[in-house]
Amino acid sequence: MDKDTRKEGLRVEDLESADLDELVGSIEETIRKEEREIYTERTLAEAYNPKNVGELENPDGTARVTGPCSDTVQIHLQVENGRIADSKFITDGCGASTACGSVVTELVKGKTVEEAFTVGDREVLSVLGGLPEENIHCALLATNTLRAALEDYKNKKEGE
Ligand code: FES
Repeated sequence: MDKDTRKEGLRVEDLESADLDELVGSIEETIRKEEREIYTERTLAEAYNPKNVGELENPDGTARVTGPCSDTVQIHLQVENGRIADSKFITDGCGASTACGSVVTELVKGKTVEEAFTVGDREVLSVLGGLPEENIHCALLATNTLRAALEDYKNKKEGE
């Protein structure tokens, strides 16, 4: 490193690849530590390894809802003999919305349509062990989307 570089501070282009790996590793560790202070272990597990991400080919019920934060959650439902046989979600929202989508789609599987209507944000928050105040609406967005997908299913069924 020349004198000028030292004067200006550390620049990325001056780092050896091993230094860069170490720097990235240390930044990631700091972020993870901060996340652990804010979110429960279960929330982080669901956010980083969400279940049921994607879309169903011919969903029986579907909804896409955009929340006040401008993020959107989409939920697809497959209903067999009045029970939710499968459910998938996608979201362009925050990590908490991913965790909530994962939990909601897991919670409804095997439930009757009427039972699935009772899955609310409180149940999602209870599974996750709570969310910070600023993320409570993310749980509500996921359960509102579920409710809209169930309504869509019911409307289609009535139209048959
Ligand atoms: S869903 Fe928008 S901030 Fe979480």
